[in-house]
Amino acid sequence: MGVEISGRGPAQALGAIAASEAADDETRRLSRAKYRHRARLYDRLCGPTWPIRERAVAALVLRPGDRVLDVGCGTGLSLAMLREAVGDGGRVWGVDHSREMLMRARARVESAGWRNVDLIEAAAQELALPAPVDALLFHYTHDVLRSPAALAALLAHARPGARVAIAGIKYFTGWLAPLNPWVYWKNRGYNGRPGELRTPWDRIAPRLTDWRWEPTQWGMGYLASGRVAAVVEA
Ligand SMILES: C[S@@+](CC[C@H](N)C(=O)[O-])C[C@H]1O[C@@H](n2cnc3c(N)ncnc32)[C@H](O)[C@@H]1O
Repeated sequence: MGVEISGRGPAQALGAIAASEAADDETRRLSRAKYRHRARLYDRLCGPTWPIRERAVAALVLRPGDRVLDVGCGTGLSLAMLREAVGDGGRVWGVDHSREMLMRARARVESAGWRNVDLIEAAAQELALPAPVDALLFHYTHDVLRSPAALAALLAHARPGARVAIAGIKYFTGWLAPLNPWVYWKNRGYNGRPGELRTPWDRIAPRLTDWRWEPTQWGMGYLASGRVAAVVEA
């Protein structure tokens, strides 16, 4: 389930699990409501982060035949790059809980005629895949990274050693830190759980080996990568 329950009695542990599930439900409700409206113009606003998307996909070091999962794939902007990297013999899965975002991804897949790209409308927390993946992309998926249940479910689908690449928004540090209320406000436009931007990767990083990260966009973004250490319990 992924909730930290050590050192507590059974009643407290159950209470913590229920609270975590309720928080996830509320975050997902807010997220789906945001993307219901955002989906239409989403692609037009993604131009400035395109080089980061390219770097995140490159960090997955995909090979022909690999199976890759695009977590929170949205309108499918990364699908062409992922598909190109794994080739006809590979497989790409995209999962997203927003019907409106996924509708656009489906149109993209259909018009390109990709037969090895499958899109799944589901919460990351409830993902079911038919085979383990060699790589996972988290491109601007803050809400998913803050959910222990989502991370447990996703990493349970990774083969040991699977590569993970993450890009997203974070708070500035140093002399630009006074701009952080604006960073929070910007993140709030896209996420149901917009806070926790100091180290937004801190729930997934302990589960990975070869972990590294670097700031992007003058410190308002980050690009991170690692490998799944071992089979993770759902
Ligand atoms: C900022 S968009 C990023 C979309 C895409 N990765 C990209 O880079 O263009 C975040 C996406 O995550 C999806 N999302 C958020 N929480 C989710 C969850 N718990 N399960 C599945 N999808 C989720 C949203 O619906 C949205 O499409």
